[in-house]
Amino acid sequence: MNWDSLDWSSLDRLRARFLAGNVATEPYWKTANDLAAYDLTYGERIGWKWDALLGELRRRGWPEAPARPWRVLDWGCGSGIAGRRMIAHLGVEHVAQLELWDHSPQAMDFARSRAQRAFPGLRVTIADPSPTPDLVVVSHVVNELSADDQARLETLLARAPRVVWVEPGTHAVSRTVQAWRDRLVAGGARVIAPCTHHAACGLLGVERERDWCHHFAAPPPGVHADRNWVRFAQRAGVDLRSLPYACLVLDRSPRSPDVPGQARIIGRPEVFKPYARVLSCEASGAATLTLPRRSLAPLVKQLERARGSLVYRWTRTEGAVIAGELDPALAAPGLDSPEGTGDA
Ligand SMILES: C[S@@+](CC[C@H](N)C(=O)[O-])C[C@H]1O[C@@H](n2cnc3c(N)ncnc32)[C@H](O)[C@@H]1O
Repeated sequence: MNWDSLDWSSLDRLRARFLAGNVATEPYWKTANDLAAYDLTYGERIGWKWDALLGELRRRGWPEAPARPWRVLDWGCGSGIAGRRMIAHLGVEHVAQLELWDHSPQAMDFARSRAQRAFPGLRVTIADPSPTPDLVVVSHVVNELSADDQARLETLLARAPRVVWVEPGTHAVSRTVQAWRDRLVAGGARVIAPCTHHAACGLLGVERERDWCHHFAAPPPGVHADRNWVRFAQRAGVDLRSLPYACLVLDRSPRSPDVPGQARIIGRPEVFKPYARVLSCEASGAATLTLPRRSLAPLVKQLERARGSLVYRWTRTEGAVIAGELDPALAAPGLDSPEGTGDA
């Protein structure tokens, strides 16, 4: 399927389903056309979120090349976009098998044929996922699960050696991911992203009910000027410029001690003439920081152009931030480091 043969009526039906946002008691994929239309549009847009997270993981050097090829499970695979992005990230030579699981047999079939087309020779299995894959991929599925299915998935994630999970960056879904994060960390998991620490999630603390842990991906250049994408965005009611996502990446390797003062900026920095304001999450909790331009001009300028994963190490005096050092390895490429970030 391409843009010319796209079945818009399939997309309209799916849109109504996604907007309803309730538990999927039965599979909603009716035909292979539904999956092909989804894969070209909604699925590709989800792929951009995966690109953002996998870009961060690449910059983090995670995961290390496996000693033996892995079994990768894509749980709730749909058209299989997340599994394919993950395999490209790992390098297909490091993957022994892609396992696909979805309560829709049609989705599993479609995802298998797309994976085999993308990675000829890759072993792809469907249904009955093995109980101990080396890495579990989850994408945009949690709000469709009943309480029982959520519990089943959580049990799987709690024993998986590695988990890479992406969800829409909405208030409700992000906070669900945050709550799972706390339970999985309590069970011994190490957080690779998005957190800089293993303390309780600061955004689940008191008086933080209105906040949620989300980040923004950038769509590929040129998408806004592409008439097909513009038509899709209008019809689907999505904003092509704004790609908020929630994520969680875990493994089971030993934790090193959290770095004091190392914080992640949640959402986007807000930059005004006299100051910048950021929601910063670190081991001591989440805090809204006001950074005056007068004393922190280079830092504020950097935040104005900020892209990608913004992990800072704050220096404070009497509780006030007097300098901030960006981890340049994690920020998106193209973000210059200011010469100095404070008057400390
Ligand atoms: C919004 S789609 C996301 C598909 C894909 N993971 C992606 O990111 O594009 C949600 C998927 O979850 C599947 N799903 C819903 N409930 C499920 C369940 N109880 N068990 C397995 N899969 C389920 C649906 O069939 C659908 O393919």
